[in-house]
Parts: sequence; C-alpha cells; structure tokens
Amino acid sequence: MVYKDGYEHFMLKEIHEQPKAVRDTLCAYVKDGVIDLSHTSLTDEFLRSLDRIYIVACGSAYHTGAVAKYTLEQLAGIPVEIDYASEFRYRNPILVKNSMVIIISQSGETADSLAALRLTKEHGVPVLSIVNVLGSSIARESDYTMYTYAGPEISVATTKAYSAQLIALYLFTIQMALSKQCMSTCEADALLMELDTLPTKIEKILEDKERIQWFASKYANAKDIFFIGRGIDYAICLEGSLKMKEISYIHSEAYAAGELKHGTISLVEDGTLVIGVLTQQELYEKTMSNMIEVKSRGAYLMGLTTYGNYNVEDNTDFSVYVPKTNPFFMTSLAIIPLQLMGYYVSVAKGLD
Ligand code: M6R
Repeated sequence: MVYKDGYEHFMLKEIHEQPKAVRDTLCAYVKDGVIDLSHTSLTDEFLRSLDRIYIVACGSAYHTGAVAKYTLEQLAGIPVEIDYASEFRYRNPILVKNSMVIIISQSGETADSLAALRLTKEHGVPVLSIVNVLGSSIARESDYTMYTYAGPEISVATTKAYSAQLIALYLFTIQMALSKQCMSTCEADALLMELDTLPTKIEKILEDKERIQWFASKYANAKDIFFIGRGIDYAICLEGSLKMKEISYIHSEAYAAGELKHGTISLVEDGTLVIGVLTQQELYEKTMSNMIEVKSRGAYLMGLTTYGNYNVEDNTDFSVYVPKTNPFFMTSLAIIPLQLMGYYVSVAKGLD
C-alpha cells in the first residue's frame, strides 16, 4: 500500500482512496443496516448517561471535531465543547460529571493529544479515541477506541484519514441520538442509507478534477486566499484553508462569513481570491450577502455549492458543484474540491 500506484504524489493517490476509506469505515461499523459499536465497548446505557462531550484534537483532526459539534448537538441534542489539544492541556479544563472526552487522531501519537488524554484520565473522565493507527499510544490508553479504516496515510497533508474520521463521527452521532431517543430507527435508517451513497458521490467529484486543476493553475500566484462560510460550511472552510496553506505556501484564512466584516475585510483588495462555501441551504443567502460585500471590494469569488444552486453564478466568477446529500454530511463531499485545489495550486507552483 505504500507505492504511488502511478499517481504523481502520495497526496493525490490518497485523495483518490477516499471512497474506499469511507466505505471501509462504514463497513466496519454497520452490519446488516444497523450500527454495531460492540468492538469499541461503547454501550447504549453508557451513551445515554452522558450529558456533555468534549472533543479534543489538533489540526485537521480538530476540524472533523468542528463538524461533529454540529452533528452531535443538532441530531443527538448533547452539548459539545471543542478544544485544540495544545490549549486543553494547559487551561485546567472543568470537566463536568457524566461527560466524555473524544480524542481524534490519525497517528494516535500526537504529543498534545496524548497529553490531553492523560489529563482527562487524571480527572476520572472516560475517553473515546477515534484513531487510524492500530495499537498506537492514544488507542492503547483510551477507555474506548473507534478505529478509522483509511489504511496507512503517507502524505503529511491528510485527506483520507480526515474523511474516515468524519464517517466515524457521523456513526457515533447517530448511535448517540438513538441511545438518547432523539432519533427514530426510521430516521437512522435513512441517514445510514445516505451515508452509503457518499463513496459513489466522492468518485463523481473526482471525475471532474480537471476543472479544478485548470482553476488552480490560474490562481497559483495568489498572495492571500480567504475561505468563508457559516455553520458546517465554516468547519469545511477551516480544513480547506489548512490544506491550501500547508502545501501551496499561500497565506490563507478561514473565516466565519459573518465575522469577516469586523476588521479582517480590510485585507480584501482587488483580485483577492475569496472562496465561499455554500452547502447549507438555510445559510445560503446569509453567506452570499457576505460574498457580495467582499466582491464590492474587488475580490475574485469562487462559490462551492450543491448541484441545483445555479444562481450562485449570478454573483461569483467561478463555481464548483458537488452532489446533494444530507446537510449534516456535506463536509464529506465539499472537502474534495478543496483538497484538489490545494494540491493542484502547489503542483502548478512546481512545489515538491
Ligand atoms: O495524527 P494526528 O491526527 O493527531 O495529527 C494532528 C495534526 O497534526 C494533523 O491533522 C495535521 O493537521 C494534518 N496532517 C494536516 O494536513
């Protein structure tokens, strides 16, 4: 699995392995159409007893936590706090009774995440880890472990492990909602059926990669790139922006769309690329109005939305569409063009 299989870089290979990472992680926990977390030792009784969840992680893993805050609060009705592990471990966190900490990590060895785990255990609070590497320190020291099945990730810029973490978190959310009786089995069945469609939809997005490559090569000389969105779209922006700056060395920021006007908008000038993520229908108009604000300052606008929202073209200079899915699962699709953007910008710049 550590060969490039004809791809120019491991990152591109791993971007293409995402349908498999998603399928394999689903298959590990869904048996005959029902979620089975028995391997993790989590029980419904324990999940029902929880009043609060803390999610702690670093980098991209933290970004999947940012998505899970929305899914867990909205679908399972449980309050969620998220923290960077490097902050959590030094802030003397107050961990309330009947709570659990979720540590998310691809490697299972990240020093701050491991320290956060150990601190949590000193507080006597149970830890669930979502980890890709079998037998890693974080997996070994947790009370419960939910492995992701992305396979070995060679590229430092994570893609398939991020996608697999999202799936583990969606499944955990659904099981939590069922345990707390916030969701009927019919609703859960419908969500599971939708999750099953994600690998094929990701494959469809990957088929259209030349269009992203063309746009990325046009913008390879950009100085600053802003990613803006609201709600889950903001969480998608966090990861899109990290992928961009990490490998293209272009300064990039993710901003909650409504927050941009409180100062940072002064950095937007003629030709600044602003990527608006608009997958959440009820927030579409709000984010679009923020995009129009930056356009009036000369920004060049790219809109990322779902098929059907063709009026995005009325206000943007370039638009990218992804298939529709349940709004809570949109991250799994919308992140693909953004990973490709980061990758192709860096290739166009001739970076290694
Ligand atoms: O192995 P981990 O998931 O704990 O690593 C955490 C971060 O260092 C990691 O997600 C990093 O942000 C990505 N590799 C960036 O692409």
